[in-house]
Amino acid sequence: MKKVIIDCDPGHDDAIAIMLAAQHLDILGITTVGGNGYLENVTRNALQILEVIDRTDIKVYPGHAGPSTAKLVIADNVHGESGMEGPVLPQPKIKAQEKHGVDFIVETVMSTDDVTLIATGPLTNIASALNKEPRIAQRVTEISFMGGGAYCGNWTPAAEFNIFVDPEAAYKVVNSGAKIKMCGVNLTRQAIMSVEDKEEMRAYNTKAGIFTAELLDFFGGGKEARMHDASAVAWVIDEDVFKGAMLHVDIELCGRLTRGMTVTDLRFMQTEKVDVDFDFESTRRWDDEPEGSTFRGKEPNVNVGMRCDIERFRKLLKGAIAKYK
Ligand code: BDR
Ligand code: CA
Repeated sequence: MKKVIIDCDPGHDDAIAIMLAAQHLDILGITTVGGNGYLENVTRNALQILEVIDRTDIKVYPGHAGPSTAKLVIADNVHGESGMEGPVLPQPKIKAQEKHGVDFIVETVMSTDDVTLIATGPLTNIASALNKEPRIAQRVTEISFMGGGAYCGNWTPAAEFNIFVDPEAAYKVVNSGAKIKMCGVNLTRQAIMSVEDKEEMRAYNTKAGIFTAELLDFFGGGKEARMHDASAVAWVIDEDVFKGAMLHVDIELCGRLTRGMTVTDLRFMQTEKVDVDFDFESTRRWDDEPEGSTFRGKEPNVNVGMRCDIERFRKLLKGAIAKYK
């Protein structure tokens, strides 16, 4: 099993991501970050999730309450006041650890080989760990994060929520030199659970199956739901669940309308022959440009998720939930 640390802000889809990971990956610990809700709430939610799936052996380390450069924006319009409204769960019996999430990340990565970081909330903790110990970038196997979008946002037309909350942190991460996978909203809008999938999981009639269905009742609002955060986990478990393109990604920090945008250099992709939902006909061809031309694009730094094999994704996710007794 691959060793992972999950940095998250549960969060309905974070909860599903954790349940998927717990079946396929060796979770060394969970760190929490202010995002969908305030730190206290998302930390309690993480503890509750672990109790639902009887994995109280996994420890939870609270990290930063919010970005260092801006005020925290929460997504209570999407996830409710508690950050995980819908399922009614008892207060957790287990407690969060005293150690700060960032210290846990730094110490674990520096003392353990082959650790993958999976981030499903704002990148505040990951950036802080990289600031504290820059060697982490080379030590980790990879960083798989849910955030951004190759040519779209969700919180604003240009920016996806996780990146919008802490663009400076995202900037640090994508420019760190680490091996990076990005699951943005261009990808996750393909990675959906239908109402039928939800009812199938409810019918498992297990704690995890019913919990997942109740999360989706709230999160999907009676319709299909995008599995944003489970995508960042799925791509670590199964390389072929998504098709990615190595592209240059940078983060807009000061645009009036575009702060938090993951500016993705799609000019490069024309040579990658990745079949994506994007019209290139009117754009210049990268490989027609002479060496040194500004139109050639920048060196790729991120494996950007582009295409989801939805049947494979569904099978993986539902299969993981089905395994819980
Ligand atoms: C991301 O924002 C949060 O609301 C979700 O948990 C996910 O991580 C999607 O934009
Ligand atoms: Ca999240």
